[in-house]
Amino acid sequence: MGFVLAAAGSAVGLGNVWRFPYVTGENGGGAFLLIYLGIVFTIGVSVLVAELIIGRSTQLDPAGAFRKLAGGAWPLAGYMSIFTAFIILSFYCVIAGWTLAYTVKSLTGSVLNPDTEQAGSLFNAFITDPFEPVLYTALFLSITVFVALGGIANGIERAARVLMPALFAILLVLAARSITLDGAAEGITFFLEPDFSKVTWATFLAALGQAFFSLSLGMGAMITYGSYMNRHDDIAGSALTVTLLDALVAFLAGLVILPAVFAFGATPSAGPGLTFITLPSIFAQMPFGHVFSALFFALLAIAALTSSVALLEVVIAYFVDENGANRKKVATIAGAAVFVLAVPASLSLGVMSGFTIGGNVLFDAMDYVTNNITLPLGGLLVALLLGWVLRHKGEEEFLDGSTLAPALLGAWRFVIRYAAPVAITLILINGVGIL
Ligand code: PHE
Repeated sequence: MGFVLAAAGSAVGLGNVWRFPYVTGENGGGAFLLIYLGIVFTIGVSVLVAELIIGRSTQLDPAGAFRKLAGGAWPLAGYMSIFTAFIILSFYCVIAGWTLAYTVKSLTGSVLNPDTEQAGSLFNAFITDPFEPVLYTALFLSITVFVALGGIANGIERAARVLMPALFAILLVLAARSITLDGAAEGITFFLEPDFSKVTWATFLAALGQAFFSLSLGMGAMITYGSYMNRHDDIAGSALTVTLLDALVAFLAGLVILPAVFAFGATPSAGPGLTFITLPSIFAQMPFGHVFSALFFALLAIAALTSSVALLEVVIAYFVDENGANRKKVATIAGAAVFVLAVPASLSLGVMSGFTIGGNVLFDAMDYVTNNITLPLGGLLVALLLGWVLRHKGEEEFLDGSTLAPALLGAWRFVIRYAAPVAITLILINGVGIL
């Protein structure tokens, strides 16, 4: 139970509420949702199982785990994980900072606006400011380091047990409000009715990246969490529970944001600001909107915290397990290093927007490289390790401790050995446009 909560805490976060709705909006809606769910419940859940097996069986950080299981060049996959965790955390805490800021600004009412266009201008003014968002990023990152340092992770977990159902409940209320807005029908159709004419390889790549990001896969977080599992903890059952919860929260968030986008006449492809410009307009039209809004963004910040702690843990576990470093020292230094990269990430949305990498501002480049390249690559390597290098040992581990596993073994073996490697390779090559 404790493990499932921690893993679900890592999975459910900004990926579900901030990233999923806008990526769905950018990729045409219903068809993307379908492809996304298809990937989540085949490749996603299977790779999650594989990562938990790697962690539980070695009780080590990603690099150590790859070395122990396979040796050779495999630890490189672990190094890539640590690099990815570091980059993701650097932009994750910027967005998480926004949620903190919106908690405060909801209370004063300064961001609530029934006019989405104005809500958008307010949002833009905020994120392009050179100081304010950076301060909130620093605040969020400090809380993350504090949690990792103090080992109050237990406290967070206990709190999350109450707070996450609360977040879920608010999402339900918001979804009810959103789908009954005038003009919401068009958004519901957009979200739920697949239009395959818009599907390209890029759609598949976006869905694959989003699936890995949302389930915290392909970058060692679930290997690290798996390493804290007990020998005979149920892997298949935990993985299914976490996957279901994660998909459900994303789906609900989509049902909140997208109908409102259409009702308010905004564009679904507006990008990373979508959640932040739509929600304040919904709240502005609700009784006690200020209170609800502050509560919502506070809960979202806490959901982000249980994810950012997982990201930082990947970095900490590596230096502690591999180099015997002092946990407190590593957490502090890593936090500071993340901040050094987070500052330009935040500024790249404003004063530093002139500086681009391959046509992307730094923030977008960091998001693209991790979600669309290193995460899928990490997932591919995990699938190859379990499906081909370890084979029988992997299957023994799969069965150990789970009453559910025997019935699922055939399906898991097929996905991890054939379906996942082939699909990920095809999507990566075509989606990135390598060939
Ligand atoms: N899964 C988290 C989210 O959806 C993000 C995350 C990615 C956390 C990787 C840990 C590791 O918000």
